Amino acid sequence: MRKTFRPGHSPTRLNAFIILLFLSFFLSLGIPLIANSSEEEIEGVIDNHANEDIKRGERFFKGLLPTKRDFESCVSCHNLYHSDTLNWNPSAMDIAIKFAGKDFAEFQSAVMQPTGIKIEASHKNFKIEDEDLKKVKLYLDDLALTGPPSAGPTLNQIMLFILLGLLITFALLDLIFFHKIKYRAVSVLILIVSLGFQVKMVATAAIDLGRSQEYAPDQPIKFSHKVHAGDNKIDCKYCHHTVEFGKSAGIPATELCMNCHVLVREGTNSGKFEIAKVVDAYETKKPVEWTRIHNLPDHVFFSHAQHVGIGKVDCKQCHGPVEEMHIMRQHSDLSMGWCINCHRDTKVNFKDNAYYDNYMKLHDQLKGGGIDTIRAVDIGANDCMRCHY
Ligand code: HEC
Ligand code: HEC
Ligand code: HEC
Ligand code: HEC
Ligand code: HEC
Ligand code: HEC
Repeated sequence: MRKTFRPGHSPTRLNAFIILLFLSFFLSLGIPLIANSSEEEIEGVIDNHANEDIKRGERFFKGLLPTKRDFESCVSCHNLYHSDTLNWNPSAMDIAIKFAGKDFAEFQSAVMQPTGIKIEASHKNFKIEDEDLKKVKLYLDDLALTGPPSAGPTLNQIMLFILLGLLITFALLDLIFFHKIKYRAVSVLILIVSLGFQVKMVATAAIDLGRSQEYAPDQPIKFSHKVHAGDNKIDCKYCHHTVEFGKSAGIPATELCMNCHVLVREGTNSGKFEIAKVVDAYETKKPVEWTRIHNLPDHVFFSHAQHVGIGKVDCKQCHGPVEEMHIMRQHSDLSMGWCINCHRDTKVNFKDNAYYDNYMKLHDQLKGGGIDTIRAVDIGANDCMRCHY
């Protein structure tokens, strides 16, 4: 920064150059924020030309049409966007995809003559004209093709970003050319604060993209650990059956789900829709594409067998209260400090574990009373090479 105030050979050209440099800097920062919004605008333009029926179908789905009705709008149950609170109902996208290849009659009977405890309760007061429902089907078919419009940054965020940009330009111009503000420090302050704020906005947007602790993506099936490991007390190891002997805990195959879901076809929370996906995946032999949540970098070696099989560390210590989670999320930050600290703090049960028999020296010290406990760190768990290849 200080360099910019050094007198040069041709000050005006240098100043102009510096201004351009700064302008292009903050404009380039804005690109990721603004790019998203123009995408939305383009979609908006296409919408304008789109089929009138699709649009009416959309408005019906969103509850804008008809104005008088005594049932909730479809979108109030069938979300268009990811919601932070758990929604057990199928998303709009889910039903759109399920019925995209099917004809109207099938769609109509699914909506109007539903079978199943959950859906009967939810769809009970429906009085919908065939014409309206046909348009809803058109809208959903269109949705299945194009996907929901991107949410993007809010208008307020973009306005704030541009305003800050203007402030920066103003402060810069004043510093270099106009000198309207009496004290230079004021302009410099405006400059630094505005720029700092812009950088922060861009940084939070970027961090949101790469954030991992508490990371909980949407999964292709609304699988709940609370329902399975909590309410129904199914052992973690029943599904993650390689956890004691393998490096990885493994995600169960659909075949394993079917051990139970051959019979259990309706869930208390989700009705038939989600379990139908399991059955469908099994019958079509298409593996469910679960989104992976925990991910150590490639240069780190971690083994479940070492921790669960030999170390007898409880899943909870690393994964938190999984049996209370409807939506799986990453509980620990998986940083190097996290591994190292636990190795410093955790005692290993040295005596009753044949795995440690060859640590003769430590056994002798333990017997001779030289030391009273052995922690993971004492058996080398914090040596660089144990975790890094
Ligand atoms: C009925 C089978 C089943 C049981 C029981 C079960 N899980 Fe899972 N687990 C899954 C499935 C399926 C996934 C992938 C979907 C998800 O992430 O929710 C998963 C994912 C996970 C993940 C995240 C994996 C990743 O992508 O990083 C962890 C951690 C986990 N389970 C731990 C546990 C623990 C701890 C228990 C016992 C308290 C347990 N599970 C019980 C089936 C099961
Ligand atoms: C000492 C900490 C620790 C314990 C104890 C632990 N995990 Fe993990 N778990 C991890 C880490 C770290 C990862 C990420 C591994 C990676 O990315 O390679 C992970 C990943 C997973 C995954 C994702 C798939 C995989 O294996 O990479 C599942 C599922 C899982 N754990 C289940 C369990 C279950 C079930 C238990 C208990 C029986 C358990 N974990 C105990 C730390 C632990
Ligand atoms: C050991 C038996 C068992 C296994 C294995 C099992 N489930 Fe379940 N599942 C159940 C039970 C019991 C219910 C609860 C049914 C109810 O709500 O009455 C359930 C409910 C569900 C629900 C609906 C939840 C709700 O409350 O609406 C889904 C979705 C589901 N399971 C998916 C899966 C998937 C995916 C797998 C394989 C990864 C799987 N299940 C493996 C027993 C099992
Ligand atoms: C009060 C909440 C609620 C409202 C409002 C609602 N739905 Fe549903 N809908 C559900 C639930 C819950 C299910 C899944 C239940 C199940 O599978 O057992 C479902 C399932 C569906 C299905 C899939 C049926 C199948 O057989 O797979 C379609 C299609 C559907 N809804 C369309 C609509 C349309 C169109 C509207 C608006 C006219 C609407 N829903 C309004 C709750 C609702
Ligand atoms: C909750 C506590 C805990 C956390 C967190 C933890 N560990 Fe451990 N770790 C242990 C214990 C206890 C042992 C000793 C038992 C054993 O030998 O397996 C151990 C042993 C090890 C060993 C084997 C040392 C040997 O005997 O060769 C390695 C490697 C290791 N951990 C890697 C990791 C990595 C990598 C992470 C982080 C991603 C991690 N650990 C996080 C508790 C933990
Ligand atoms: C108990 C396991 C463990 C031990 C021992 C360990 N590390 Fe790490 N290390 C990790 C993990 C886990 C990460 C990944 C952290 C992350 O992704 O945030 C890591 C990351 C790193 C990185 C990359 C940092 C980055 O920003 O990506 C370096 C460099 C590193 N370790 C060096 C070392 C050195 C040097 C030692 C020996 C003094 C050592 N590590 C010992 C687990 C370990």
